Amino acid sequence: MSRAYNFSAGPAALPEPVLQQARDEMLEYGDAGASIVELSHRGDEFIDVARRAEADLRRLVGIPDDYAVLFLGGGATTQQALIALNFAAPGQPVDYVVTGHWGRIALKQVAPYVDLRIAASSETDGFRSIPPRAEWALSADAAYVHITANETIHGVEFRDVPDTGAVPLFADFSSSIASEPIDVRRYGLIYAGAQKNLGPVGIGVVIVDRALLERVGQPRAEIFDYRAHLAAESMLNTPPSWNWYLLGLTVRWMLDEGGVEEFARRSEAKARALYAAIDGSGGFYRNEVDAAVRSRMNVPFFLQEPALEEDFLAGARDAGLIGLRGHRVLGGIRASIYNAMPVAGVEALAAYMGDFQQRRG
Ligand SMILES: Cc1ncc(COP(=O)(O)O)c(C=O)c1O
Repeated sequence: MSRAYNFSAGPAALPEPVLQQARDEMLEYGDAGASIVELSHRGDEFIDVARRAEADLRRLVGIPDDYAVLFLGGGATTQQALIALNFAAPGQPVDYVVTGHWGRIALKQVAPYVDLRIAASSETDGFRSIPPRAEWALSADAAYVHITANETIHGVEFRDVPDTGAVPLFADFSSSIASEPIDVRRYGLIYAGAQKNLGPVGIGVVIVDRALLERVGQPRAEIFDYRAHLAAESMLNTPPSWNWYLLGLTVRWMLDEGGVEEFARRSEAKARALYAAIDGSGGFYRNEVDAAVRSRMNVPFFLQEPALEEDFLAGARDAGLIGLRGHRVLGGIRASIYNAMPVAGVEALAAYMGDFQQRRG
């Protein structure tokens, strides 16, 4: 068996030790007589898995006690809709700062429920930058301000936390959670689909200031109610237990590797090497994002000669580098270099890029 370096944006590569442990425990979890995925979520084994995952995630990300953590099925898009239902009164304004494709998707999810305002957008710039905070048109009566901390497709990330005054900041951290230390208290709410840095697809995490859960929000079914999920310890209905278990293993692996400080150091090294390979190619490869906000997680780039793309991808596959095809919205090539991607994987990609250019440039 040979595992390739997988640059997929999500579902993304999982750490090999996590996959090995999951394989070893697949048929029998401990001495439970069954796999964890076959056991009741109300049983001692799974309750222990769930509680440990939360405790470890709190330690990894630095989540204070006055913030609740929810583990929910449905990924990030579901949370994009639920935040409006839970925190905005009917017709109340919400402010969105749109810096890429996922910010645009977030708008669609809340449009039916709120007075949707676009406080700032970099769309006219092809989502290659982040509008300066001074230019945002924020509403004093907004329920929240929403940003996408890292745009997975356009490869743009916030490098600082914007000040939104008394209006809480809500952030989609799907593709950058746990990649560097963050001050959770600067946010009212953080949400993330797990399938990039936290584990497998099929589960999402919501980190929310408990005080915000007092808000009435909008009429909604219990299953769409964060308070109800919290009261039931995220087991209001049958949770995605296998995904939760894998998330727990992944979070534990990140702690064992040195935590977010260590992953920030690795991310910096990986991103530096990859952008250097692009910028040093004399235009053969091209990343178009404003250098000040280039993502350290997702690196989209284009070949000077688009006709060479298929050859580039096929050659990469032969060199053991997979998942590099750009998202259909943007085209080109994209390398996602999340926490599970070793520095050696990025070095292999940079070497392949140099070799391809030499042969075909
Ligand atoms: C930043 C961001 N937000 C939201 C989503 C949507 O996530 P999901 O597919 O889990 O709903 C993605 C998926 O890639 C993403 O990258």
